[in-house]
Amino acid sequence: MEKEIAIAIVGGTGNLGQALAHRLAFPGVKLIIGSRDHEKAKTVVETLRKSLGNGSFDGKSNQEAVREAELVVIAVPYEGHAPMLMELKGELGEKIIIDAVVPLKKGKPFTPPAGSALLEAQEILGRETHLVGALHNISVVDLQQPDAPLGDILVCGDNEQSKQKVMEFLLKIGARALDAGPASNAYIIEGLTGVLIQLNRKYKSKHASVKITGIGEG
Ligand SMILES: NC(=O)c1ccc[n+]([C@@H]2O[C@H](COP(=O)([O-])OP(=O)(O)OC[C@H]3O[C@@H](n4cnc5c(N)ncnc54)[C@H](OP(=O)(O)O)[C@@H]3O)[C@@H](O)[C@H]2O)c1
Repeated sequence: MEKEIAIAIVGGTGNLGQALAHRLAFPGVKLIIGSRDHEKAKTVVETLRKSLGNGSFDGKSNQEAVREAELVVIAVPYEGHAPMLMELKGELGEKIIIDAVVPLKKGKPFTPPAGSALLEAQEILGRETHLVGALHNISVVDLQQPDAPLGDILVCGDNEQSKQKVMEFLLKIGARALDAGPASNAYIIEGLTGVLIQLNRKYKSKHASVKITGIGEG
């Protein structure tokens, strides 16, 4: 039997965290919803249990959630990104970290001083960290429906081994993950989310996402 993997979502009480829970409610995954307020995390977990039933969920403070996990997803708004990473730096250590944060101000993308949210995270946590950028372009509307097809997930980072592990993990949520190069490419992938938001507005959609053609089609 495959070993259970513990996954923490920092900011897991939000849209992305709760949507991901819908794809991770199966044996072999222990999902720990993190929050700045552990009571809020527990309330969200109760709601998830009611709708998803069979998953292994827990609700904790962000610190405790990270401490107990092997894989951590950072899913907080950009304004909380740097302060949160500084707070969690001591706990993140050797763990594999997926950073999904998109720098947005009033729904519009912008370039942070470091060049991207991922490079900013790398500056804070150190280059030796197992940091990987992913999930930026995913639609939470599609994630919430376990049978809905998902867009491709562009994965970037400088640690090849961690990137591979993240791509294997993304298979669990039913997505095709593509290696989109080093961390220096993150600004493009993060910026693409701004384009998807614009497309959703223009075409009155809620789930624009990215599909790459010409790869793996025989
Ligand atoms: N939603 C999407 O469609 C989507 C898709 C891909 C990527 N993303 C990116 O993923 C991240 C999370 O998106 P989201 O829509 O889930 O965000 P969200 O719902 O607005 O926030 C997620 C959680 O972050 C915590 N939080 C809020 N402000 C914070 C702050 N200043 N400092 C620390 N924590 C704070 C809150 O949890 P507590 O109050 O419980 O601490 C909140 O529930 C964002 O960076 C977004 O750009 C979003």
